[in-house]
Amino acid sequence: MKTIEQQIDKLIKELTLEEKASLCSGRNEWTLKPVERLGIPGIWVSDGPHGLRKSPNSNTDGYGDQLPATCFPTASALSATWNKELIREVGKYLAIECQAYNVNVILGPGVNIKRSSTGGRNFEYFSEDPILSGVLGAAYLNGVQNEGVGTSLKHFVCNSQETQRMMVSSEIDERTLREIYLTNFEIAVKKADPWTVMAAYNPVNGSDCTSNKYLLNDILKEEWKYDGVVVTDWIAVYDRVEGIKAGMHIEMPGIGEINDKKIIAAVKAGKLDEKQIDKLVKETLKLVFKAKAVEKKGVTFNNDEHHNFARKVAGEAIVLLKNENNLLPITKEKYNKVALLGEFSISPRFQGNGSSEVKPTRIDNVKDEIIKLAGNDFQVDYAQAYKISDDNDLTQIKKAVETASAADIAILHVGLPSHYESEGYDREHIDIPPAQIKLINEVAKVQKNIVVVLTNGSAISMPWLNNVSAVLEAWLGGQAGGGAIADVLFGKVNPSGKLAETFPQRLEDTSAFLNFPGMNRKLIYGEGIFFGYR
Ligand code: GLC
Repeated sequence: MKTIEQQIDKLIKELTLEEKASLCSGRNEWTLKPVERLGIPGIWVSDGPHGLRKSPNSNTDGYGDQLPATCFPTASALSATWNKELIREVGKYLAIECQAYNVNVILGPGVNIKRSSTGGRNFEYFSEDPILSGVLGAAYLNGVQNEGVGTSLKHFVCNSQETQRMMVSSEIDERTLREIYLTNFEIAVKKADPWTVMAAYNPVNGSDCTSNKYLLNDILKEEWKYDGVVVTDWIAVYDRVEGIKAGMHIEMPGIGEINDKKIIAAVKAGKLDEKQIDKLVKETLKLVFKAKAVEKKGVTFNNDEHHNFARKVAGEAIVLLKNENNLLPITKEKYNKVALLGEFSISPRFQGNGSSEVKPTRIDNVKDEIIKLAGNDFQVDYAQAYKISDDNDLTQIKKAVETASAADIAILHVGLPSHYESEGYDREHIDIPPAQIKLINEVAKVQKNIVVVLTNGSAISMPWLNNVSAVLEAWLGGQAGGGAIADVLFGKVNPSGKLAETFPQRLEDTSAFLNFPGMNRKLIYGEGIFFGYR
């Protein structure tokens, strides 16, 4: 019986140059190419990271028609649990859903460093600290891979902003690169050996990540001994032949044969050694055969069970930032009339925008979950208080103030509307909408018992902090986040989360402020290692 290694060596000898080149790019948006002639199967990859975003077919991007899956809290919430075992368990749940949908690799976790509080994808990343990011990223990787599903550690590397992300070169000194921006990836690679690593859109010191020999070969392969597969971020190829030389295995998505032909031409012109292709294709075949060997068919999952687990995770992520005079928890001994203010309580924002967007199996909202827990012990009066769709609309404040004034305690559910933070662009400031700030300050004039509940993917400023008695950071808590907020407010869950990123009082106080988001296609990491809590 030949070993897998021997079978693959035999296949390399039998594959034509054209077939090898074809294995260096995807078949379409989500699958790798098979080579039927030799019994080489294709495999299916899909986004994550905090829930499966599977397109109904492999050649469309799946935005808007993705299949339903459990939407877990996003990475900025997961990291606030500081709980490796819990995050490993999230990985397990994700893997089960991948198996149910016949997905072999989930494209996560995102471990990029939160260099600036305004980073558009901060919600999708763990921390400003490389060790925490690496350790939690490894927990996610192991949780998924222990079930026999692959992962993609992303985005390798220095992809900490969204503004012109495909063009702006991260200009960074060696010490900062090593101590901060590579350390998280190094920890994750060495602790969890991800099946794939995803190379980022941006250049680093002028060299595109997807053809950067220093990063992909010298560091990832030679120094860290990584023998998995490197995939590009989607349409992140700028020079495919240089990518092969650097150690870039698979261009995603498959965009036809244009780059395959360039590879073949380069070999025939003597500009590319076919042995380099053989090395990459060998590792790709190892990935494909490993995936097929461990894939499980006929797996199903219970939506309610996964939803309840997502609620447990969201509850552990909630951070009690302030609780003067033991305002919380809300108990019938202390209060009877509860004012619940804020449209977020009936229209939950539970995840971030972009490629990570999951179609949830169901969504909890805070109002319904509070009313369930309150039962007959409390009177809950709701007021919209602001409009998520209009940052400056003040028409709802008067009613909200009246509602708060008549209650024993006022819950103000505020935060960032979805257009504030997203993949594809960065924030320009860290404030919550003006109407929400006005609401807090107006309610504070008539009610001393105020608890602010925050729905946001990353740091926000809190100029109103002294006007309120309690603050709960509830993040983008996933589809069960509403229930988790109710659990903490009413003392069913003890808030044990801790911040994993700095919440600056003012953006101007942050050290990346002067060099973010860069200009003239250069992003100078002028602050070096001294950013965030450092
Ligand atoms: C996106 C993201 C990446 C995602 C990929 C596929 O542009 O940067 O995180 O996995 O493309 O959707």
